[in-house]
This record gives sequence, structure tokens and C-alpha cells, in this order.
Amino acid sequence: IYGPQRKNSRGVNLNIRNQYQPLMDAMSRFMDKTYRARPLLAFEVADDAASTHEVTSPYDRNQRVGSVQWTSAAQAAQALEAAWTAFPRWNDTLVAERAAIIRRFADLMEEHLAELMTLCSREGGKLLTDGVDEIREAVDFCHYYAMRAEQQFAEPTVLPGPTGESNELMLSGKGVFAAISPWNFPVAIFCGQVVAAAVAGNTVLAKPAEQTSIVAHRVIELLHEAGMPRDVVQLLPGDGPTVGSVLTSDPRITGVVFTGGTDTAQIINRALAARENAPLPTLIAETGGMNAMIVDSTALPEQVVADVIQSAFQSAGQRCSALRVLYLQEDVADRVIEILDGAMAELHVGDPRDLGTDVGPVIDEDARQGLMAHIEKLKGEGRLLAETRLDPAHTAHGTFVAPTAFRIDGIDALEREQFGPVLHIVRYKASEIDAVVASINARGYGLTFGVHSRNESFAELITQKIRVGNVYVNRNIIGAVVGVQPFGGQGLSGTGPKAGGPHYLQRFATEKTVTVNT
Ligand code: NAD
Ligand code: ALA
Repeated sequence: IYGPQRKNSRGVNLNIRNQYQPLMDAMSRFMDKTYRARPLLAFEVADDAASTHEVTSPYDRNQRVGSVQWTSAAQAAQALEAAWTAFPRWNDTLVAERAAIIRRFADLMEEHLAELMTLCSREGGKLLTDGVDEIREAVDFCHYYAMRAEQQFAEPTVLPGPTGESNELMLSGKGVFAAISPWNFPVAIFCGQVVAAAVAGNTVLAKPAEQTSIVAHRVIELLHEAGMPRDVVQLLPGDGPTVGSVLTSDPRITGVVFTGGTDTAQIINRALAARENAPLPTLIAETGGMNAMIVDSTALPEQVVADVIQSAFQSAGQRCSALRVLYLQEDVADRVIEILDGAMAELHVGDPRDLGTDVGPVIDEDARQGLMAHIEKLKGEGRLLAETRLDPAHTAHGTFVAPTAFRIDGIDALEREQFGPVLHIVRYKASEIDAVVASINARGYGLTFGVHSRNESFAELITQKIRVGNVYVNRNIIGAVVGVQPFGGQGLSGTGPKAGGPHYLQRFATEKTVTVNT
């Protein structure tokens, strides 16, 4: 599983000029292109101006990316019927054939890196570095799940039994999966869900986020070009509640793989549970986090600050894994805050396509307003510790939020996940460490967590006590790598299994045990 036979994608090193420049030249071809995305279903869909929505760039709302035609409830129902019909044929297709399509798709994404990265920036506001990581992660998911499918699904596992009896365990697809994804990883998470479900033998109805349907459309075009039958993976761009309720209320949906907000996961869970005469469904939900980091007095302040800047502000804090609450032990708190203040003053907020930009825009005006209300409230309470300056020359036309750091009394002070570049800092005394850990656990989320300490036994003890999915010691807490750091949370942060981990595909599978009296 983890051996040398599997290598992750190398991507592009933007610090090396002869890798950076050709990529920039290739990207320039797609900077002004206007896209038209639409449902990609098993059947043809007529143009419909009334359900077409304009898309502009988060960094400049005057720049048009294109338009998206949303899927109607009737089209979603028809797509579901097609997926239901296609399932037995696809489930009987050789695993090697399914895996080969996924590998061809990965190659096509690498060939089209420049266009996909351009769309990630133009539509999703992603920095160039985040764009490279995004496509690399998508490619890694493809290779990893293709490999795991061949290992787990191609041949039955022979089990021990008494003489005169053979026992085998076989894995196959479950049926029709709805794959519902967020905007913040519009290629990586989107592909990860779709590819895992499909390579395991299921047919898939992929519902991308409203904000990033153009790049999703381009990705599914590439998947179809790689040989994926159009009735096996269909794309249903559209309104979450409209398309979502058609999918999650239908008894033919066997499973939902969802990534997004905790509230949305709960709506989906209730809709699935309310179905009458439906098979018990699978729900794989990866949701939000209230991620914390604990820093004790032995930590190195300079390293802490570098890791905090990355964890809290990379991708404008729009990662489920991002750091939200930093706990600093009293002895080291003033020094860390002083260095953090200096580092935040140096951050450049602006156009994500500029290599000198550290922090890009947030996804849309709703997100900006929600974050600004939180920021203004904390400022009004006199809690501001540090803030990056926004230069109107670089930010006037987009939805930008300046990175900020605030003093709060504890994680309980936060009502909900603030999905943006806002860091909250809590000072604690060494004697309070048990209460700190207990309060983080009691908050109910459990996605990522960091500890900075040169005291190994302290780090080990905290790691053992904290109830989260991914713990990082003496480093940043974002950027899990496929097959290396299987990713996913617990509690309010998700159901598991971990994406990019060895147990993921099983959740998309039916297991059948066959016992033969020989
Ligand atoms: P969201 O919950 O608003 O939307 C996610 C998807 O659900 C979208 O495609 C949306 O259209 C759809 N949706 C909305 N209402 C629906 C309904 N009633 N039925 C079915 N589908 C519906 O989340 P978002 O704003 O796109 O993404 C940000 C959130 O995602 C954050 O909370 C973040 O923490 C979380 N996230 C989690 C992970 C993880 O792996 N744990 C990764 C990335 C993002
Ligand atoms: N897998 C992503 C990360 O670790 C969300 O940042």
C-alpha cells in the first residue's frame, strides 16, 4: 500500500524559472477565455437561458469567467434513472478496465494543468501555489484509488476455513452514489469523491458547488474523454437544496459522499433517514472544523509563527484543516504574538495569479460579509492583536478579507467555524493544560490539531488525549498528502473513512462472503 511502487505527482516547482515560465505562458491562453458550463448527463440537455447563471472572478468582480446552466429537478430525476440503469453493467466491468480509465483521466489532468490551474484562480480565487497542489492532489487520488481498487476488488480474498470448505470475501459496487462537493477544493475533493465511487463499481451523480461549476465541468469533460461512460459519471451543476433534495430523497440512491458544512451534512442525513422503503444508505460526510494548536513554553517562537501563518492564512484560511484557535502558554505568548504581528504586516493580499501574493480573495460576497461581521464584532470588543493591511490598489474590485488575529478567552467563545483568514488566540497557564484539552474535545469538532513543543512526552500526551482525525507535531496543520496523511475528522467534523487512506474504498463497496462445501 505504501511501498515504492506508488509515487505521488511531482506537480510544478514555481520557484524554478524553467518550470514557472512555460506554465505562465500556457496559462495566459486561458486567462480571457469565456466558458459555458452545463449539465453533462446521459442524455442531451437543451439550452435554457432562464436557468443560466453568470460567473465572475472573486479577485475582480468585473472579470467574467463564463456562465453555468443549472440542472433542474426534473433533469436530476432523469439522470438518476440513467445512473440506476447503468449500474449493473458498470459494476460488471473489469476492475482493471475501470482503473485504466481513471489513470488516463489523471494523465489528461496533468496535460491540462495550465487550463485547470487558470480556472482554479479565475473561478475559485486560488493562488498559483494552491492551484499546483490542487491538481497534484486530484492526480494522486486517481492513482491511489485505482491502485487500491485493483488490490481490493479484482480478486476475492481467500479466508481460512475447515477442510472441505472454501471461504471467499468479494467486494463490488453498491449502486448509485451522489457526490456532493464544496468550492474550496473544486478539483481535488471533487475528483477524489467521484473517482473513488466510480472505480469501486458505482455510478455517480456529481453535484459540484455552485461557486466552482465551470472547473468541475472541464474536469468531467476530461473524465469522459478518458473513456468514462456518460451514464456512469454525470455532472449536475446547480442549486444545493434543489438538486440535493432530488438526490437525497430518492430510494435509488445507495450512498452519498459529501464534503462541506456540518449543517448541510445534517440536512442530508435527515433526508436520507426520512426515505420510506429505501435500503439503508451509506453517508460519508467530511465537514467543518474548529481546529486548534497548543504551543508550550519549550516551543521555538520563530517556527511556531511560520507554521501558524501557513495554517491560518494560506488559501485565505479557506481550508477545513485551517488553524482557528491558537493556544499559547503564558511564558511564550508575548514573544510569539510580537513575531506574528511582524509577519502578518509583511503578508501581501491581492491577485492570486501574482506569484508575490500570499493571501488571495475569499470566495464570494456572502463569505466576505459573514467574516467582516465577525471581525467587526471582535474589534468592537477591543480584541484585535494583529492585522494585515489591505492595499486598495490590489483589492478594490474583489472579495478580500485582511488576515486578522484576535484575543479570545477559549474555544467556547466561538459559535461557529469562521471560514476565512481569522485567527483566535488564547493564553493559558501550564497548570490549565488539562482544562484546555478538555475544552477542545468538548467543543465537538475533531478535524486537525497541532502541538508545538520540544518536550516529547508533552507532545505525546496531548496527541493521545486530543480527539481529532489528523494531529501534526511541530509543523503546520494543513496540506495532507494522499496515501501519506490519510485525511478526515470525527464528531461534528465527519464520519470517516479517511480520504487518501487505505480504508476509503471499502465504504463504497458491498462485501459478499461466499462459502462453498467442496
Ligand atoms: P456547503 O455545505 O455550503 O456546500 C457543500 C455542497 O453541498 C455544495 O455542493 C452545495 O451546493 C451542497 N448543498 C447545499 N445544500 C444542500 C442540500 N440541502 N442538500 C444537498 N446538497 C446541498 O459548504 P461549502 O461552503 O461549499 O464549503 C465549505 C465547508 O466545507 C466548510 O465548512 C469546510 O470546513 C468544509 N470542508 C470540509 C472538508 C473536509 O474534508 N472535512 C474539506 C473541504 C471543506
Ligand atoms: N486535505 C486538505 C488539507 O489537509 C483539506 O489541508
